[in-house]
Amino acid sequence: MTERVIALVDAGRRKPLPSAAGPAAGMMQDRLERPLRDLRISVTDRCNFRCTYCMPKEVFGKDYRFLPHEQLLTFEEIARLAKIFADRGIEKIRLTGGEPLLRRNVERLIEMLAGITLPNGERVELTLTTNGSLLARKARALKDAGLRRVTVSLDALDDPTFMAMNDAEFPVAKVLAGIDAADAAGLAPVKINMVVKRGVNEHSILPMARRFKGSGHVLRFIEFMDVGATNGWRMDDVIPSREIIRMIDAHLPLDPIEPNYPGEVAQRWRYRDGSGEIGVISSVTQAFCRTCTRARISTEGMLYTCLFATSGYDFRALLRGGKSDAEIRAAIAAVWGARDDRYSEIRTAETAKQRKIEMSYIGG
Ligand code: GTP
Ligand code: 5AD
Ligand code: SF4
Ligand code: SF4
Repeated sequence: MTERVIALVDAGRRKPLPSAAGPAAGMMQDRLERPLRDLRISVTDRCNFRCTYCMPKEVFGKDYRFLPHEQLLTFEEIARLAKIFADRGIEKIRLTGGEPLLRRNVERLIEMLAGITLPNGERVELTLTTNGSLLARKARALKDAGLRRVTVSLDALDDPTFMAMNDAEFPVAKVLAGIDAADAAGLAPVKINMVVKRGVNEHSILPMARRFKGSGHVLRFIEFMDVGATNGWRMDDVIPSREIIRMIDAHLPLDPIEPNYPGEVAQRWRYRDGSGEIGVISSVTQAFCRTCTRARISTEGMLYTCLFATSGYDFRALLRGGKSDAEIRAAIAAVWGARDDRYSEIRTAETAKQRKIEMSYIGG
């Protein structure tokens, strides 16, 4: 067995459901009084990119074993689970991967999820994070299926830098075409995520800001994080958000603005000339665990209560083990009630080395 396979098995470590029951219905809070509002669902652990900060080729190479199809949650299982979560208070669902548009017929899943109504009668807010490679082709169908918005990852505007980061020789122009198609299809406002690594794409910060200023899209700069156990993270590679803001503000003046909703991950800044906004996501230098309302379902149906978890709860076993909706609802309440995660607040050089689950498996 190779080291690569062990990484995946380790990543899927299961923990038993907590014994204390949560409230049977209505609002739930975790041990730090945080409600559960967002559900992120990873629909595939595969990706056609090999971003060095997420799926480095040395680990996710030709002999890497992705999950076999029968281990993935089916669309019916995902939709059932999502509906139960909606009954328990989530308002937003984000599909992620790997690359979610690689999952065959993902439009059908979107149709199933878009139909979910919340206890207040409104439809759930359904979004998706993608690398944009298939977006030009799929944007219209995604919109027609009921998707509201998309977030597209793009780390640079010049091919040498972008290709060095995606490690799949994927050109910038195709992602830009995907962003245009999403916008034209009405999947707006399109958000654009740029992971910033010192010495790798820091020279792209200002060109990216200039390119998307006035476009109606919202560019967000993300601090390089120590997710997973394979991306060789070092604090020295992180450019703190405040440095990014200073750099942009010197050329394109900015003012801070209020969050759209409590617990928003990105801190928002507006161009003083009124030509739009940007965001910074400072998971490393200004942790936002205190307002973290997110739960994550992995491709194979494990529930994780933190992006940096080392183990999760096996909800596929509940789904396939004949449990009723009420029993699964109770399990969610028990897990959320026991939650005390705040990894980013307590991160150290030591915790960064822990064998955490990979982001491509749990989703961003
Ligand atoms: P919207 O406000 O609906 O656009 O959602 P969002 O801001 O949560 O957007 P998105 O899912 O694109 O998150 C952006 C990035 O922030 C992710 O890709 C992660 O890199 C990071 N991120 C999101 N949620 C968390 C989290 O709970 N913890 C940490 N540490 N990072 C997160
Ligand atoms: N640090 C910060 N962001 C990351 N993403 C993936 N890996 C990392 C990391 N190590 C982000 C990507 C993408 C989303 C799915 O997660 O930019 O937008
Ligand atoms: Fe794929 Fe997104 Fe990870 Fe890049 S960051 S390897 S595009 S899942
Ligand atoms: Fe939430 Fe964990 Fe991220 Fe903190 S580190 S914001 S608890 S997912």
